[in-house]
Amino acid sequence: MAGEEVVLKIRRFDPSLDERPRVEAFAVPLKEGMTVLDALIYVKSRLDHGLAVRFSCRMASCGSCGMKIDGRARLACETQISSLPRGAVAVEPMDNFPIVRDLVVDLERFFARHAAAMPGLVRERDPEEQESPTGEYLMAPGELESFVQFTYCIKCGLCSSSCPTASTDALFPGPQALSQAYRFLADPRDEGEERRLERVDAEHGVWRCHFAGTCSAVCPKGVDPALGIQLLKRHVMSARSPFGRKKRRGAPVFPNPNGDLLGQP
Ligand code: SF4
Ligand code: FES
Repeated sequence: MAGEEVVLKIRRFDPSLDERPRVEAFAVPLKEGMTVLDALIYVKSRLDHGLAVRFSCRMASCGSCGMKIDGRARLACETQISSLPRGAVAVEPMDNFPIVRDLVVDLERFFARHAAAMPGLVRERDPEEQESPTGEYLMAPGELESFVQFTYCIKCGLCSSSCPTASTDALFPGPQALSQAYRFLADPRDEGEERRLERVDAEHGVWRCHFAGTCSAVCPKGVDPALGIQLLKRHVMSARSPFGRKKRRGAPVFPNPNGDLLGQP
């Protein structure tokens, strides 16, 4: 390890200045346990301050360091150099997003689509309960299990960057937003079904997915958005069927007999 180097071949591009992207190579001294993000930080601090790279937590939690490493969408902070083939490492911005500069992509539309999936409980009959809770909504462990994996999403965008439908249909919401729509449709506390269905059961909505499955293959948190989309299709079919189930009423509030709420002083 001592004296060894890794070469990062980084795709550079500033849309406001450059006509086309170029690749620049940087030799970085290897250290044990070094991640691709560590190597990029070395480049930025010692070799080229102008390199644009986004990161924050450095522990696969914030979702901000998504990029393409050796041709696959990954988090730079959890990708060990030692896990990659020896030699040069190709580092590029994520696909399917506009480039701001170098490895930084514009996530504005991605988050707008997440917001359009209404990622919060909708309550028709007691909306005030959200602001001033008087009790708690109860649900069975099996109900929680039906959607809990989708709550682990850190919104890194890797799934949407790897989706072939997103790369050919600019209006497709993408696997992240669609699986989040399912996460709330499956939640027994939620009462926003109609509004969510209008958004996903649309021309460029859930039916555009042809189940390539690349989204699930690259997710760093073990979420299976491809499954979420298939479950969403089933939910739409059932809700639209003349023989479908009745409109769900969200789980009721159970007052807390002690007058206090879990997690609150
Ligand atoms: S589903 Fe996985 S890959 Fe997609 S945004 Fe969430 S954490 Fe990232
Ligand atoms: S820096 Fe937060 S996920 Fe990589």
